[in-house]
Amino acid sequence: MTVALLQVRGLTKRYLGLTAVDEVSYEVEAGTVVGLIGPNGSGKSTIVDCISGFQPADGGRWLLDGHELTGLSPHRIARAGMTRTFQTVRAYDELTLLDNLCVAAQEGDGVGWLQALGRGSRLRGVERAAEARGRDLLATVGLADYAGAPAGILSYGQRKLLAIAAGMMARPRLVVLDEPVAGVNPTMIRRIEQVIHRLNAEGVTLIIVEHNVDFIMSLCRRVIVLEAGRKIADGPPALIRSDPRVLAAYLGQRGAAERGHGRR
Ligand SMILES: Nc1ncnc2c1ncn2[C@@H]1O[C@H](COP(=O)(O)OP(=O)(O)OP(=O)(O)O)[C@@H](O)[C@H]1O
Ligand SMILES: [Mg+2]
Repeated sequence: MTVALLQVRGLTKRYLGLTAVDEVSYEVEAGTVVGLIGPNGSGKSTIVDCISGFQPADGGRWLLDGHELTGLSPHRIARAGMTRTFQTVRAYDELTLLDNLCVAAQEGDGVGWLQALGRGSRLRGVERAAEARGRDLLATVGLADYAGAPAGILSYGQRKLLAIAAGMMARPRLVVLDEPVAGVNPTMIRRIEQVIHRLNAEGVTLIIVEHNVDFIMSLCRRVIVLEAGRKIADGPPALIRSDPRVLAAYLGQRGAAERGHGRR
């Protein structure tokens, strides 16, 4: 039996009186693109924050390829093979796109450029490798022409593409994209979808957190649904679309009641 690439078991996160994530378990098979959906505040970003090491969890374990990631820092998790993007794109506007990617590489590199200082040839080697990787990724996301331009000139959708490239700098096996197409126009959504397909074809496993249900349903063969911190469904889009608990979560109790489905 093969072990799933990502195993999350009983993940729990509390903020004061609120249980934002309540005993959530799921697995992600290598080579897949899995959607994670749910209403506002259902705990999607909190799950991403916890498994990527940006927030401490209150319970649960998570493993990548059988290796324990529980409690590790973001850069150790990145080194182990999992990175994430943020719902609110983080970029250094005054730096060029290429320099933004080199900074991302530095942040994701457990060795760190600072430690490499004083070892001049090693530093230059690291810089050259990051630059080459950065140029490749800018080509992958269709921003090669902007490599030397400051990130501040990018459109909102282009910033989302830059964020995906930044998330790929550490050569992750699994990348979690938090709302990659939120607020993005239809043409740019298609471009981002192509980039996701391209990365997946190169062997990268992806978890896509989104509100755009149509986007998720067409992109993913498996979708996980959260409501109020709990996993309420997990399966292929056709099953998810007709799941009474999912309809109730999205339409509210009244909408579900009108369809003859009670909440469990
Ligand atoms: N740092 C925090 N401190 C306190 N409460 C928080 C914090 N971060 C999230 N929460 C709460 O945890 C719950 C889950 O939030 P989370 O951001 O994970 O939801 P989400 O599913 O990503 O929502 P959205 O679709 O709006 O991005 C919400 O009730 C939110 O208010
Ligand atoms: Mg969120």
